[in-house]
Amino acid sequence: MTFILAHRGSAGTHPENTMEAFIAAEKAGADGIELDVQLTADGEIAVIHDLTVDRTTNGSGYVNEMTFSELSKLKANYHSLHFFKKSCRIPSLREVFLWLEGNNLLCNIELKNAVNPYKGMEEMVIALVNEFSLEKRVLISSFNHKSLVLCKEIDPVIETAPLYNEALYKPWDYAVSLGASGIHPKLKTISDQEILAAMDCGVAVRPYTVNKESDMKRLFAISCSAIITDFPGRAFRLREQY
Ligand code: G3P
Ligand code: MG
Repeated sequence: MTFILAHRGSAGTHPENTMEAFIAAEKAGADGIELDVQLTADGEIAVIHDLTVDRTTNGSGYVNEMTFSELSKLKANYHSLHFFKKSCRIPSLREVFLWLEGNNLLCNIELKNAVNPYKGMEEMVIALVNEFSLEKRVLISSFNHKSLVLCKEIDPVIETAPLYNEALYKPWDYAVSLGASGIHPKLKTISDQEILAAMDCGVAVRPYTVNKESDMKRLFAISCSAIITDFPGRAFRLREQY
């Protein structure tokens, strides 16, 4: 069965990377959530996609120049989805883990460390995963592939997967060279044949961002390992046919 991972939570229906989006993903039937993390000026792990708060909140400035207390005062549903009236905050990864204690969802943590390498981020994230004993429910991905190798050195139990957005030759071989057990390609960069070849080699394939019904159906039909989607509810309803 193809797993459904809710991209930034149920980002198609709720403000991305908020507890509201994660709770909505669970209600929609997702098997797990994908979220993005960055470090604040005071060393907290914040769940936010961009390097700055400008696009997703009513504030402005760089995440790594603000304290978590400053971040958490911002409205995280300011620009997008104006129909969503409830006020939302930027959560910490700890808050998300506390919530995960009450369910069985998987959590794909995307380290947003490809542009700003955030020294020490891998150790901090993995220490929190270890504190909550979530090693078997967490999957770490990043566009910074050197960081994924470091993650495996810190804790070999936690699964990793490289993200990429341009076509690669035999990405499953490359993943194995990083110690990763999966690949997270941009959907358009990988063919069905390549997905099947990767899975034949024991490498899980979880393309992003799969929002169109036709793409979902195609990937369910070949039992692709997982999809990362903004619309977990749509995916859950379609998957029942496969
Ligand atoms: O992890 C899949 C996807 O989230 C990668 O791209 O920019 O949405 O974080 P982005
Ligand atoms: Mg992401």
